[in-house]
Amino acid sequence: MEETVDHDSLLALFRRLTLASAPLLMTSCTTTECGPVDIEGTVPLAQLQPDAGSRDDAGRFVGELSLPDGGLDDLCREAFPTEVIETCKLVTIDGEPTIVAVIKRGPGCAGRRPAGLAPAPGTEATGLGVWLAGAAHLEAASVDAFEILAGELTVHGAPSALVDAARAAADDERRHARLMGRLAVAAGSRPPAALVARRPPRDLEAVANENAVEGCVRETYAALVAWRQARAAEAPELRHVMGGIAADETRHAALSWAVDEWARERLSPARRRRVEAARRETIEQLGRELTVAEPTDVRALAGLPEATEAVQLAAALFARVA
Ligand SMILES: [Fe+2]
Ligand SMILES: [Fe+2]
Repeated sequence: MEETVDHDSLLALFRRLTLASAPLLMTSCTTTECGPVDIEGTVPLAQLQPDAGSRDDAGRFVGELSLPDGGLDDLCREAFPTEVIETCKLVTIDGEPTIVAVIKRGPGCAGRRPAGLAPAPGTEATGLGVWLAGAAHLEAASVDAFEILAGELTVHGAPSALVDAARAAADDERRHARLMGRLAVAAGSRPPAALVARRPPRDLEAVANENAVEGCVRETYAALVAWRQARAAEAPELRHVMGGIAADETRHAALSWAVDEWARERLSPARRRRVEAARRETIEQLGRELTVAEPTDVRALAGLPEATEAVQLAAALFARVA
């Protein structure tokens, strides 16, 4: 990324993209649009075990892999802590040992999820209440994500402005979780608790990596969609609530990019390249996930884009900011 992504530039971009976005398409829901989808996720082993094996002078991996006591299962859970994993293997890609997993994803998965978040119980039910309950679960998980980020930024000596902004974001997310939880209950669904296993502070690369994936990509896209929802949600209470949430999420997205800039300046070139690669891979992964849209009635009530528009919005957004 060459130019700074700050709050005002993001806000202007979100407004331009949501105003230009297509009107809702009232097509019927097909199986491929509405079901869960299998996607492939990859995490370089070096991201989890920087000291695994050894490297030759050219930086290529050589030697034996060291798996944790739990073997591949533990490694896969560590690589994809919040996902429902179908299959997982350790393979070599371009000379790098890489964990490759097939992950089961439902539609509309965007937001900031902390490492250690237990997946929400799955449901076959659909409807606005189910969507709101899922959103409330993700908002509650985001409280932990920002509290953890604030703690890890402190450990790594980040400026107090970033630490304070992360703490303020946790307060915002607490409010969002309450608001969405109330709407979910009113629509007949109770949000599952967000269960997050707290872990010791991680090294700066792991912090920067999670921030790039969950903040610069997922929460930034979620902020854009929140503006669309504030304009287009047919459920009036949700439309009203999304106005305030969109403004908060825009600050959170800007914070992600500020953390990204601060952290990457402090990483070695190799570590910085891995963070940038993770960001690029997540943008591609999000593009695949967005090909699965919510059912038509939920989309209309919640103001969510249909699949084609969602893919186009994400492409336009990340062509500009990533
Ligand atoms: Fe939020
Ligand atoms: Fe947020």
